[in-house]
Amino acid sequence: MRLQDQVILVTGGASGIGLSTVERCLAEGARVALADLASSTGATEAARLDARYPGRCLFVPVDVSSTEQVDAMVAATVAKFGRLDGVFNNAGIGGIHPADSYPDADFLRIIDINLNGVFRVARAALKPMYAQGKGSIVNCASILGVFGQSGTAAYTAAKGGVVNLTRTLALEGASKGVRVNSIGPGYIDTPLLSALDEATKNFLIGLHPLGRLGRPEEVASATLFLLSDEASFVTGANLLVDGGFTAGKS
Ligand code: NAI
Repeated sequence: MRLQDQVILVTGGASGIGLSTVERCLAEGARVALADLASSTGATEAARLDARYPGRCLFVPVDVSSTEQVDAMVAATVAKFGRLDGVFNNAGIGGIHPADSYPDADFLRIIDINLNGVFRVARAALKPMYAQGKGSIVNCASILGVFGQSGTAAYTAAKGGVVNLTRTLALEGASKGVRVNSIGPGYIDTPLLSALDEATKNFLIGLHPLGRLGRPEEVASATLFLLSDEASFVTGANLLVDGGFTAGKS
């Protein structure tokens, strides 16, 4: 078991990549706090998984745009499981508008969840991790953290911020036993893409040399590696899980 008895917190854990990662961490022996804004789905999924892995899956409601709720989420996780070994900082939303008419409220909301939210969660998690002298944080970025795409000004700004924030957190955590990395998925077949029509999905498939969208469990596998001690010499990295999307661009 690669995460035996470790305590892992996953934000955005009720759906898609987050839910798949929760399931992988449980299967590898971890105790997991599944945190999400979607309290009904989150509670249902956590109850389902807790029945399968008794006493090992806790639902914690959270809106990562609230510092108070994020701090309470970390406190609830430590209160229940006694420590915090790993965080998958995964909650995020999408949004598409051309830059010249991007509404303020939409732009700020995406930044507040996808970038500020990642910072809030990392800041709260660092305290128990520094006290333990050990921890691993994985921040969910995107291929759009290293490349631009028309219509995604807020999302690309946020994800680019996550990649570079990760490097600074890694430098600060290094002497305290805490590794911090980011992960950069290509387009993954999750509910986040459900609003797209078939033509757009086919266009996105064509951007990946492997000829398909990624699956949530493929991102979960890479995240699991970074969370685990197998990645003990990896910090400050941005691991792309993108079916070759970026291979021809760098
Ligand atoms: P998803 O929509 O299936 O899951 C996102 C989860 O985050 C949902 O359960 C949602 O309720 C939760 N969430 C949203 N806002 C929240 C908030 N304020 N506080 C707490 N939880 C909140 O999406 P998916 O695809 O699994 O995305 C997960 C992460 O992966 C996101 O950060 C996304 O930007 C990133 N990503 C996704 C890609 C894709 O193609 N699906 C590609 C690259 C990155």
